[in-house]
Amino acid sequence: MGGATGIKIALIGYGKMGKAIEAIALQRGHEIVLKIDVDNAADFTAANLQKADVAIEFTGPHSAFNNVMKCLEYSLPLVCGSTGWLDKLDEAKAFCKQQKGCFLYASNFSVGVNIFFEINKRLAELMKPHTDYNISLEEIHHTQKKDAPSGTAVTLAEQVLATIDRKNKWVNNETNDPQELSVISKRIDPAPGTHTVSYHSAIDTIDIVHTAHNRTGFATGAVLAAEFVKGKKGIFSMKEVLGL
Ligand SMILES: NC(=O)c1ccc[n+]([C@@H]2O[C@H](COP(=O)([O-])OP(=O)(O)OC[C@H]3O[C@@H](n4cnc5c(N)ncnc54)[C@H](O)[C@@H]3O)[C@@H](O)[C@H]2O)c1
Repeated sequence: MGGATGIKIALIGYGKMGKAIEAIALQRGHEIVLKIDVDNAADFTAANLQKADVAIEFTGPHSAFNNVMKCLEYSLPLVCGSTGWLDKLDEAKAFCKQQKGCFLYASNFSVGVNIFFEINKRLAELMKPHTDYNISLEEIHHTQKKDAPSGTAVTLAEQVLATIDRKNKWVNNETNDPQELSVISKRIDPAPGTHTVSYHSAIDTIDIVHTAHNRTGFATGAVLAAEFVKGKKGIFSMKEVLGL
């Protein structure tokens, strides 16, 4: 997939994902002009951000909102992959509109998962009339993951709830309430991320499964997103980046 080259990128969060993104960005001919982590937070200034075309934020649930607001305040197009802060996402999008800025959030940047999201929506449409099937979700990640359920599982659950009206909310546990959608989170090492959506009846079970083998897919998607947002204004998702 082709994209803009020679982008100047500010990395906000230089952990597992920040480092994986750096490697892919350099391979694709981009430049990392700023790396912010907890030990150099004082460098997260308007003057330093102005050196970049795009910021990519991967820190975590507790820091994402403030970092996002700061980049938007300084009018830097922003790609954010931190999960576990969805309660504040609408506020960030409203601020982006007010600032006439550019913001792309994705609970999962991998091409495969974004295709999986489309399959999940289609399967929910097909299963909607088949009320004898119960539905559940399972996600497995590494033990250092800070949020549960994963942002990807929340996206999958919300896609199911948007179509299947016999379910009215997801819960992060087993449930006997037929109106609740059970999302089970398991933490096992090493596990970059497995998501399963299951429809089960007395007769049969349909499972759709996505298994990430490593972080490269997320990092590549985040860099593709950065290439896409460069020079744009508006609020985008991976659907636009991947043309899904
Ligand atoms: N959207 C996706 O495709 C996707 C994929 C993988 C991970 N994630 C999410 O991305 C986030 C980061 O994941 P990770 O595996 O890189 O975690 P990590 O713990 O390896 O890295 C996070 C880094 O952010 C730094 N950090 C924390 N607070 C900060 C702050 N206020 N300012 C700057 N830096 C700060 C930490 O010191 C750490 O180096 C998590 O929320 C994770 O769930 C999303």
